[in-house]
Amino acid sequence: MGLVSGLEVIEQCMSRGLVAGAFNTTNIETTMGIVAAIENTGVPTFIQVAPTNAVLSGYDYIYDMVSRRLAAVDVPVALHLDHGRTLDDVSASLAAGFTSIMMDASGHDYDQNVSLSQQARRLTPPRYALEVELGSIGGKEDDLGPEREATTDPAQVAAFVEATGCQMLAVSVGNVHGYAPDVRIDMDLLRRVQEASAVPLVIHGGSGLPAEQLGRLHEYGVVKVNVASDLRNAMIRTFGEAYVANPKEYALIRVSRAAVGAITDVVESRIRTLNPGI
Ligand code: 13P
Repeated sequence: MGLVSGLEVIEQCMSRGLVAGAFNTTNIETTMGIVAAIENTGVPTFIQVAPTNAVLSGYDYIYDMVSRRLAAVDVPVALHLDHGRTLDDVSASLAAGFTSIMMDASGHDYDQNVSLSQQARRLTPPRYALEVELGSIGGKEDDLGPEREATTDPAQVAAFVEATGCQMLAVSVGNVHGYAPDVRIDMDLLRRVQEASAVPLVIHGGSGLPAEQLGRLHEYGVVKVNVASDLRNAMIRTFGEAYVANPKEYALIRVSRAAVGAITDVVESRIRTLNPGI
């Protein structure tokens, strides 16, 4: 089937009552692990990379790697720019073949956030979904934290969605990036945001959240949940354990295959937690 547009993934999920996982990749092991889990579950999914991670290989390489692995996969998958911060991020990822875009201007004030999001909407083909962020999600992605942290104000949601022309809204409702202790979503706030939003919602920071909350997000207008740290940790842990077990280990392919398996297990378990009905 190959890559489909972000809008196609959203529409398929909404019509089937599903929540799409959005899993961050940077390398072949992570990509293989994610794709195996997608094949095992059949749930439409986003594979994504942020500009901070695309620096390792570039958007072209990510596009080639992901689209090759998906060529024979019969499940809708979109390739998404996660946390695009500039219009150059948007243009570069679209030029490489990405089919879904996030413009994250949440570090700016409200008016600038609207303006940058609108410009990103104009750059992005209409069939490609645009995700924008209102409020600012805390925690750290890799070594980078947000410029500020703020929960999403339900009173701003309707006008922001309308003005930006977005298809998905990323919200800050207690979720944080990375591993922080005792993270929980404020489900009452999420409900109030949902009631104000004409488009489905996105939850970032899927790694630290309790399974019991993840399994209820489909009832709150959430269509996409981002997960990165758990995949990265699965890979680093596999290599770390192999080294600790044998500091002279050099069977790279065997350890890499073990890492692919560990990533598949994490992704599959997350997709099943998000979609208790499958
Ligand atoms: P986690 O690393 O907490 O899973 O968050 C990932 C994310 O939200 C990527 O945008």
